[in-house]
Amino acid sequence: MKQHRLAFVGVGGIADVHYLSVRSMPERAQLVAVCDSRLEAVQRRAKEWQVPGYTSFEKLLDEVEVDAVCLFLPHHLHAEFVEISAQHGKAVFLEKPIAGTLEHAQEIVEVVARYGMTLLVGNNGLFHPASERTVEFVRRGWLGRPLSGRGISAGWVTFSSWDFRLKKHDTGGGCWIDAGGHLVYLLREALGEADYVTGITANLSRREMEGEDHGLAVIRYKSGAVAELLVSYAQKFPGYRYAWPRNNTQKLEIYGDRGAIQYAALPEPCVKYFSELPEAMPEDWQGWLVYRPPEPFTAETTTVSSQQGLSTYEFGLNETRPRVGFVFQDVRLHGPRGQPKRMEITVRARATMPRRCSRRQQPARHQAIFTSSRP
Ligand SMILES: NC(=O)c1ccc[n+]([C@@H]2O[C@H](COP(=O)([O-])OP(=O)(O)OC[C@H]3O[C@@H](n4cnc5c(N)ncnc54)[C@H](O)[C@@H]3O)[C@@H](O)[C@H]2O)c1
Repeated sequence: MKQHRLAFVGVGGIADVHYLSVRSMPERAQLVAVCDSRLEAVQRRAKEWQVPGYTSFEKLLDEVEVDAVCLFLPHHLHAEFVEISAQHGKAVFLEKPIAGTLEHAQEIVEVVARYGMTLLVGNNGLFHPASERTVEFVRRGWLGRPLSGRGISAGWVTFSSWDFRLKKHDTGGGCWIDAGGHLVYLLREALGEADYVTGITANLSRREMEGEDHGLAVIRYKSGAVAELLVSYAQKFPGYRYAWPRNNTQKLEIYGDRGAIQYAALPEPCVKYFSELPEAMPEDWQGWLVYRPPEPFTAETTTVSSQQGLSTYEFGLNETRPRVGFVFQDVRLHGPRGQPKRMEITVRARATMPRRCSRRQQPARHQAIFTSSRP
């Protein structure tokens, strides 16, 4: 198996998580260079991670032999950096969301098609064992016919003075574009495509943010199921002053005509489920069945989902120019000033694995077998 040479572009918060992922699979991936426009940050990381550091992405690409670049950048830079990567023949792992605007997202789709490049958007929630089981439960029909869903991603996000999330232009909005996507793509995996979406955004207390600190969406799926999603960066609860993930809640509930599943990713991953169908629950079982993923989802350890996501991506690179998968999802809120906003969810392509993958080779999320476990 080839060891792939990766460069990190952007060495802010999420780069630390991915660094742990890369470190955990040394036979398959190696970090060979880092780039950041903040000189002090790139020097610190280069020294700590023992790799050359650059403030110019193009200089890095000219000087270092790299198989793939991992873009951990503010959203307004995604399209530009994907295009530069494509021009240099590099594969891309792009942190979510695909972009901050629909136009940029479409540019990325076009670049990927034009260059035939390998690109994966890091929708890491898809790879977490807890969400894999949630989706699997629904897809196996153990809820019966899905009727409704509810998602919440809320908490208190602490911003550095230079945080791009403060600027509407750099983020593409506010909390919704930054955090709402996780709920949207997870529900889409479980319930299919949406056919009607509406929503409201508001900035109620985080005046330091130019964009919204609350985003609320109501979705109807083609199947007829309905869902409500709430994203907030202004919720206070015990522990909100702590660092991520204790300052955050991420939950999803799906109800069907034969059962229910409640999934929490943060702060403690846990899946609770109930079904009337005998194949899903032990016959005499009363109450919820509970599944707890093997590893905690903490800031100190590698997150399971990032590790799985990156290794799925890396797995794809081992194929000869595969279509590793292109998980595309974009959510936009727009409307005249002062008017209710309309929300559009656009899906351009779905993740696909190369057809010739044997089942054994396929990444964990395609193998997921749902097994019930008692609490
Ligand atoms: N999957 C997840 O759960 C998750 C979590 C956090 C962040 N993210 C995503 O990761 C990306 C980065 O987020 P973050 O939290 O690490 O942000 P961050 O602000 O901590 O880091 C971004 C880095 O990019 C650097 N940068 C800015 N302009 C640059 C340029 N022109 N050239 C090179 N470097 C430049 C900044 O100096 C900073 O170090 C975003 O797309 C975000 O949505 C995903």
